[in-house]
Amino acid sequence: MNVRCFIIMREDLLLILLISITNGFTHYTDFNEFVESVERNISASEKYIRPTDNSKLIHVTDSNIYEFGTFDFIIIGAGAAGSVLANRLTEVEQWTVLLLEAGGSDNAFSDVLGFQSYLYNSDMNWRYNSTTQKTCCLGGINQQCRYHRGKVRGGSSTINAAMYVRGHPEDYDRWEELGNAGWSYKDVLPYFKKSEKAVFTPRVQDSHGDNGYLFVDIPPPTPGFDPLIFGAFEELGLPKINDYNGEHVNGVSKTQFTLKKNKRCSTSRAFLDPIQHRKNLNVSLNSFVTKISIINKTAHGVEFVKNGRLYTAKARKEVISSAGAANSPQILMLSGIGPRKHLQDLKVPVIQDLPVGQNSQDHPLYTMLYFRTNTTFYNITLREKLILYQKNQRPLITGPHETVIFINLQNSTHRPDVEIVLGFQAPTEEQLTSIWQLDTFYNELLDIRPQTDFIGFISQLHPKSRGSVTLKSTDPRDMPLINPNFFSDEDGYDIETMYGAIQILERLSETETFQNNDVRLVYPKVPPCDNLHERKSKQWWHCVLRQFNWFAHQVATTSMGNDTRTSVVNSRLQVHGIQNLRVVDAGVIPEEISGHTYAPTIMVAEKAADFIKEYFQC
Ligand SMILES: Cc1cc2nc3c(=O)[nH]c(=O)nc-3n(C[C@H](O)[C@H](O)[C@H](O)COP(=O)(O)OP(=O)(O)OC[C@H]3O[C@@H](n4cnc5c(N)ncnc54)[C@H](O)[C@@H]3O)c2cc1C
Ligand SMILES: *[C@@H]1O[C@H](CO)[C@@H](O)[C@H](O)[C@H]1NC(C)=O
Ligand SMILES: *[C@@H]1O[C@H](CO)[C@@H](O)[C@H](O)[C@H]1NC(C)=O
Ligand SMILES: *[C@@H]1O[C@H](CO)[C@@H](O)[C@H](O)[C@H]1NC(C)=O
Ligand SMILES: *[C@@H]1O[C@H](CO)[C@@H](O)[C@H](O)[C@H]1NC(C)=O
Ligand SMILES: *[C@@H]1O[C@H](CO)[C@@H](O)[C@H](O)[C@H]1NC(C)=O
Ligand SMILES: *[C@@H]1O[C@H](CO)[C@@H](O)[C@H](O)[C@H]1NC(C)=O
Ligand SMILES: *[C@@H]1O[C@H](CO)[C@@H](O)[C@H](O)[C@H]1NC(C)=O
Ligand SMILES: *[C@@H]1O[C@H](CO)[C@@H](O)[C@H](O)[C@H]1NC(C)=O
Repeated sequence: MNVRCFIIMREDLLLILLISITNGFTHYTDFNEFVESVERNISASEKYIRPTDNSKLIHVTDSNIYEFGTFDFIIIGAGAAGSVLANRLTEVEQWTVLLLEAGGSDNAFSDVLGFQSYLYNSDMNWRYNSTTQKTCCLGGINQQCRYHRGKVRGGSSTINAAMYVRGHPEDYDRWEELGNAGWSYKDVLPYFKKSEKAVFTPRVQDSHGDNGYLFVDIPPPTPGFDPLIFGAFEELGLPKINDYNGEHVNGVSKTQFTLKKNKRCSTSRAFLDPIQHRKNLNVSLNSFVTKISIINKTAHGVEFVKNGRLYTAKARKEVISSAGAANSPQILMLSGIGPRKHLQDLKVPVIQDLPVGQNSQDHPLYTMLYFRTNTTFYNITLREKLILYQKNQRPLITGPHETVIFINLQNSTHRPDVEIVLGFQAPTEEQLTSIWQLDTFYNELLDIRPQTDFIGFISQLHPKSRGSVTLKSTDPRDMPLINPNFFSDEDGYDIETMYGAIQILERLSETETFQNNDVRLVYPKVPPCDNLHERKSKQWWHCVLRQFNWFAHQVATTSMGNDTRTSVVNSRLQVHGIQNLRVVDAGVIPEEISGHTYAPTIMVAEKAADFIKEYFQC
């Protein structure tokens, strides 16, 4: 190790010790005040007026340009990746880091995973819509999908479901096969472990870390739910897996969450809170980056807007874009890095011709999935739920994602191709209509009963369809055009795979466990499909599966690889052909994994921090 690079020790260890001897109760000096602030947040979310562009963020009232300063590194975005990077880079005492985040602070409301759905209708969300779709999201207003992305300290890790799911070892071996040396499973496992502090048991010891910043836990079950789910899937021959982040993935499991006691353990909570006093880290919130300045194919700094003022900041060593799989492409393209033709059409001077925003991949989700039971769950007041929450109990300690099932429809030893998530407590119909923004006639047809139904979603893990992110215009206030393009593959493999998951759910509904407990799959009313096909037929399901979709795991918009025709960054995450510029976020993941994207993104950032330390010999 170079003597110039003195590495700061972990300063949060004492804090962890202190927290572990107190419990959740002492955290709110005034419980009533907390309940009231929750009620205010819920009501604000219900009244939230959706923006149509980002002019609220970029509202320049002053014609001067201000200099913010010069730093060794500038990181764009304090999300899942950016928070981890900011922590690891400022371990080097001699390095200064500016972390720019478009959103504001996270808070005690966003710390409650059970309130996740309210955060969608708040300023913590970019609230994107997809472009109008032809093969998916057909039930949405204007045939658009809603696309949520965190715009807040912690990024999407502050508004996500916090499921900690790494995927299958074969996923990472694939990354290496695609031309990324050093990204095989054996190479990435140490980085998963580095960030993690697993606190649940039983777990596969060798697969987990005990000393990292990120708490991973399995909270107590919903009373009565485990026997139902494990019993029914056992009848279908699916094994119970204690730890899907261990050796075996396929089967039925309790979901692991990034959770510290009862609170969301976002990357901001895990990686930024403990290092607030570091003098070499400057975090600037409400700072919207509009451009990376590139001179002579070298990144020199950024331009951003904060509180009505336009600023420039300079980077001595590197600019790192961690703005996420949709926003990093937007910033790169606004700065002249992207597909030549697209940039020329918009009259953006082309600095580097790269397939930015192409090859977008995601997990298509089908969301209108619910089972009716004859049992009443959690028919209690908000106040009572918050009391349970204080005692680390459901239903608010997580969202409705209690169990997760991975299935390979062809070969149970291979990586899975579909995932099913099931849990309590279903959102109310009002919440769902406001989250999904379905065609208005559905408002009358929805029949979901939060007190008796459990809900879930299914998703396809390795889709063939490809989407894109492009610019609507050169105005940074305009939201990027996001086209998921699900179920558009010519041979119909994607929709057929989703239907495979439906068939499993239909069989589940027929199991003795479900029958004996009077639990059944609900077939929704879907006029556009009911009018064309026999209800419950394969054709009907194909139609229904295209109506109610969602996505949250976007990757590969700035893929890593060694071919400049198909990738944007190299396997060290440096932008091809540009000096001093990296992308470090979910967008560099070259191919969709069999898990969720939060844990892998954290791993990517951990690894990137080591690349950077190595590059500058620290
Ligand atoms: C609703 C939802 C549920 C999800 N559930 C799960 C789950 O349960 N498990 C899981 O593994 N994954 C989940 N995900 C996905 C996971 O959260 C993301 O894959 C992950 O957070 C991606 O990390 P990132 O660093 O690439 O981007 P982000 O975490 O989105 O961070 C990007 C940051 O950059 C900021 N930014 C963007 N543009 C600019 C700009 N121009 N200037 C300044 N700042 C900017 C953003 O505000 C944001 O803070 C979910 C995502 C969502 C949205
Ligand atoms: C997204 O679509 C919804 C429903 O049509 C609309 O209310 C909202 O304004 C749209 N958002 C943007 C950014 O266009
Ligand atoms: C961050 O940088 C700005 C601009 O240089 C400066 O005004 C501010 O004091 C810095 N904050 C910290 C915590 O270093
Ligand atoms: C939401 O809750 C947070 C944390 O308790 C609080 O700081 C904030 O003021 C609340 N928001 C509203 C709109 O009341
Ligand atoms: C790129 O990666 C592929 C796949 O691993 C490999 O066959 C090829 O030789 C690599 N090309 C270069 C230029 O490194
Ligand atoms: C850009 O590079 C060229 C050739 O290396 C050099 O002549 C020129 O001065 C550089 N321009 C700037 C602005 O640094
Ligand atoms: C929930 O409780 C209320 C009030 O006690 C009662 O009227 C209602 O029937 C209950 N709902 C269910 C589904 O049990
Ligand atoms: C299942 O997948 C494994 C691992 O790839 C492979 O070795 C095996 O031959 C496959 N079995 C069948 C029946 O396809
Ligand atoms: C639910 O249905 C099962 C099977 O019909 C029955 O045994 C059980 O008593 C019912 N439970 C309730 C709460 O009605």
